Amino acid sequence: QSFQRLEYQAPNYTFSQVELDIALDPARTIVKSRLEVLPGPGHEAGASLVLQGHDLEFVSLRVNGEAHRQFELNPEALTIHALPHEGGKPFVVEIICVCVPEKNTSLMGLYVSNGNFFTQCEAEGFRKITYFLDRPDVMARYRVTLRAREAEYPVLLSNGNLLSSEKLPNGWHCAVWEDPFPKPSYLFALVAGKLECIEETITTSSGAKKLLQIWVEPHDLKKTRHAMNSLIASIHWDEKRYGLELDLERFMIVAVGDFNMGAMENKGLNIFNTKFVLAQPGTATDADFSNIESVVAHEYFHNWTGNRVTCRDWFQLSLKEGLTVFRDQEFSADQMGSESGRAVKRIEDVRLLRQLQFPEDAGPMAHPIRPDAYQEINNFYTVTVYEKGAEVVRMYQTLLGVDGFRKGMDLYFKRHDGQAVTCDDFLAAMADANGRDLTQFRNWYSQAGTPKVIVKESYDAAKQEYQITLTQSPSEHISNKEYKPFHIPLKMRLLTEADEQEEVLLELTQESQTWTFDHLASRPVLSINRNFSAPINLDFDQSESDLLAMFSGDDDAFNRWEAGQKLAMQMILQNRLPDAPLIDAYRQLLTDVDLDPAFKELALTLPAETYLYEQCASIDPQKIYAARRAFRHAIATELRIEWAALYQQMQIPGPFNPDASSAGKRALKNFALGMLLEADPLIWATMAVSQYQQADNMTDRYAALAGLVVHGSKSAAACLEDFYTRFADDPLVIDKWFGLQSSRPPVANADSTLSEVKRLRDHAAFKMNNPNRVRSVIHAFCLNNPASFHQPDGSGYAFWAESVLALDAIRPSDSTQIAARLARGLDRWKQFSEPYRTQMQAALKLVSDCETLSPDVKEVVSKA
Ligand code: ARG
Ligand code: ZN
Repeated sequence: QSFQRLEYQAPNYTFSQVELDIALDPARTIVKSRLEVLPGPGHEAGASLVLQGHDLEFVSLRVNGEAHRQFELNPEALTIHALPHEGGKPFVVEIICVCVPEKNTSLMGLYVSNGNFFTQCEAEGFRKITYFLDRPDVMARYRVTLRAREAEYPVLLSNGNLLSSEKLPNGWHCAVWEDPFPKPSYLFALVAGKLECIEETITTSSGAKKLLQIWVEPHDLKKTRHAMNSLIASIHWDEKRYGLELDLERFMIVAVGDFNMGAMENKGLNIFNTKFVLAQPGTATDADFSNIESVVAHEYFHNWTGNRVTCRDWFQLSLKEGLTVFRDQEFSADQMGSESGRAVKRIEDVRLLRQLQFPEDAGPMAHPIRPDAYQEINNFYTVTVYEKGAEVVRMYQTLLGVDGFRKGMDLYFKRHDGQAVTCDDFLAAMADANGRDLTQFRNWYSQAGTPKVIVKESYDAAKQEYQITLTQSPSEHISNKEYKPFHIPLKMRLLTEADEQEEVLLELTQESQTWTFDHLASRPVLSINRNFSAPINLDFDQSESDLLAMFSGDDDAFNRWEAGQKLAMQMILQNRLPDAPLIDAYRQLLTDVDLDPAFKELALTLPAETYLYEQCASIDPQKIYAARRAFRHAIATELRIEWAALYQQMQIPGPFNPDASSAGKRALKNFALGMLLEADPLIWATMAVSQYQQADNMTDRYAALAGLVVHGSKSAAACLEDFYTRFADDPLVIDKWFGLQSSRPPVANADSTLSEVKRLRDHAAFKMNNPNRVRSVIHAFCLNNPASFHQPDGSGYAFWAESVLALDAIRPSDSTQIAARLARGLDRWKQFSEPYRTQMQAALKLVSDCETLSPDVKEVVSKA
C-alpha cells in the first residue's frame, strides 16, 4: 500500500477531549477511552467513524452511554456506523480494549522493558494502545488515569500536570494526569515502574517556577547530571534566542534501555534511549557528552517546533524535524563557547550530511525533504528529512539574516500556535514576515537529489576584472526532465593579497548566472559556498595551489577545512601520496599555536571512505581503502615529530571536564596517538597501553583501546578483556566494546572482522532484541565498516542478508525499524564494481525473495 501526499483529506471527525483509564498489567492491560467527538473539517453527513487499531483485543463500545452494535472490526480498524449528531453537537464514544505489553517486541505502542512500562507512539503507535483517529491533525486535550500494582510500579507518569494520586484496594494505586495543551496522539506517553529521579526547580522568563525531572533506574541516578545541565541550558537558550518559554509546570525526561531510536518529544514527558541520557566521565566519551547535550536540546525544542505547532500529515515531517535539527545545531554551536568552536560544529554537521545524506539522495531511496509518497512512514525518518531538512531551514536564515529569520519564526507561531500545519505554511510565514517572494525556494521541498553547481572563473589582467559563472543542474542520479532551478544562497569572498574584499551573498536563481568584479589588481582566489551556505556539490576545478592557499589561510574556517579535504580527496582518488607542499601545509597547521585543537583534528582527518565512494563512477572499496590507508600512513610517518609533540602538549592536567575546549584537546591528542600507532606501532603500543590503564575518563581509555585494536597490536586482546570485566554491568559501555570490535578495519595476520563479528553475535551478552546491542554489532559492521564489509567473496553481504531476515523475523507482521535500517545497507549496489556488484545483487534477491517480509523491509529492498 502506498500513501500519496496529494491525496490528503481533512479528518471527518475530530476529538475535543480524550479521557483514558489504563489498568497496567504486562499480560493484559485494560484501556478504557472516552472520546468527545465532533464533526471534523472534512465531515459529510452520515459518515462513519473509522478508528485505527492494531494488535488490540476489542471488548466493548458505547455511544452516548448506550451499548452500540453498529460497528465493524478488522485487524486495522474499528468502523462505527449510525452515529448521532443532532445539530453538530459532540457525542461521546467509549471503548474498552486490551493490549499485551509484555508480548510487544516492536517497541511501538505500550511495551515492557526491564520490568517497567514505556510507550512510543510516533508515528503510528497509539493505535496499538487503543482505537483512535491516529493522525497528527486530530488534536485533543487528554486526561489520563493510570492504575497499577504499587509495589511493582511505584511511579506512574504521563503528559502534562499531575492532578492527583491515591491508593486503591488490593495493593493498586492510581495517578491522574492532565495535559492542558491539545495534542495529536503521537505525542501521548506513559511510563510506569521502579524509577527514581533527580529534580531541579528553575524560574523561566515570565517568573514562573518549573519542576524539571530526569527519571532513570535507581542505579543510574548518578549519571544524570549532564542531561539535567543540558536541559536547563536548552530552556534558557530557547527563551533568549527565540523568546520561547517552557509552557508546563513540569518537564520530565525518562531513560529506557530498549528503544528503537534516539529519543521522543512526547509533551512534557520525553522518553530517551539511555544512550542519550546517562553519562559520567568514567563511562561516557566526549562524543557521548555532546550527543546527550544535543539530543536533550532537540527534544526540548520540539515542545514548540513540533508540539505547539505540529504537522498536518506525515509528509510534512521535515516541518518539525528539519526545523528542530537546525535549532539543536545552533544551540550546540553556541555551547561551543567560541567562534572557532562554532565552525568546528558546522564542519561536523556537514561531514555527517555528506557521509550519510548525500548517498541517500543519490540512491534508490532518494526523496525530497517533503516526500510525495511512502509505503511505511517509519522508513522516512531519514537523514534527508532531518539533516537536509535542517540545511533548508538554515538557508532561510542565510537569505533573510538572523533577525529576518527570527521575524519569520515569530509570525509562524503567531499564526499557527495550536495548529497542525504544512511546510508551505512555514515558508509563507518566512516570506510574509520579511516581505520576500520565496516562491522559487519551494523547489527545495519538492525536488530530490543534491544539486550540482559548476563554477567557471576568468580573470582579465588588462581590465583588472574577474568573472564567475555559476551553472546549476540536478544531481546525475535524478532525471532532469522536470528540473526546476533552485534558489541557492552562496556566500563568497575573493581572497586577495590586499585582503580588502568583503564577504558577499550570491543568490543563484537561474540555471546560469554570471557575476563580474572589478578593480582587482591580480587574480583572486575564490572562496565560495562559505560555511557551506547551501547543500550542494560544487564542481569547481580549482588548482592545487589555490586549494593549498585556502587551506593555509582562508578566513572562513569551513572553507579552510574544505580545501584540505578536497586536496586529500583528489590525491587519494588518484592513488597519490601527499606531496611535499601539502605535508608542509599540514605541518604549519599543526604547529600553529593560535589554532583551535579541535579544528586541527578535523583538518587532518581524511574524508571518509563512504564520501570517497560518492566521487567514483564505479566503486572499488578495497582499492579506496588501500589508497586512503597509504595516504594516512604517509601523514603519520612524515609528521611523526609533530604528532609526538602534540601528544605531549595536549595532555590536560586536573580533573575531567567535558567542555568543548578540553574535548578538542583530547580529540587532537588521541588523533596523534592513532597516527603514532600507525607510524611506529611497536614503540607506541606501550604508550597506548599505559594511557588505557591510567585514564581517568572514557574518552582517553576508549581511544587508547581503539588505537590498539585498529592497528592490530598484540596488546589489544588483553586490554579488550580487561575492558569487558571492568564494565560488565554497564550495558552502554559493553555496547562500545562490541561496537569497537565490529568496526575494526582489516588487520594483517588476524582473523577477518567478519569472523570476529560472528563470534560476538554468539556472545552471551549479545541480545537480538535489544536495539542498542544489535546496532553495536550488526549495524556497526554492515553499515559503518566498509573495508571489512565489502569482501570480494561476498561473505559480508551473505551475513547482511542473514541478519536482515533474522531481525525482521523477531516481530512478525509488525514494524521492524531496526531491520529496515539495516536493509538500507546495499542501497548503492549499482554503483559498485565487480565482483561486488553481482554479489550485492544476489544478497538483495535473497532478502526480497522471502515471503514473510515486514512492510518496512519490503519497501526498502524493493526500491533497491
Ligand atoms: N520525533 C523523534 C525525534 O526526532 C523521532 C521519532 C522517530 N520515530 C520513528 N517512528 N522512527 O526526536
Ligand atoms: Zn525530532
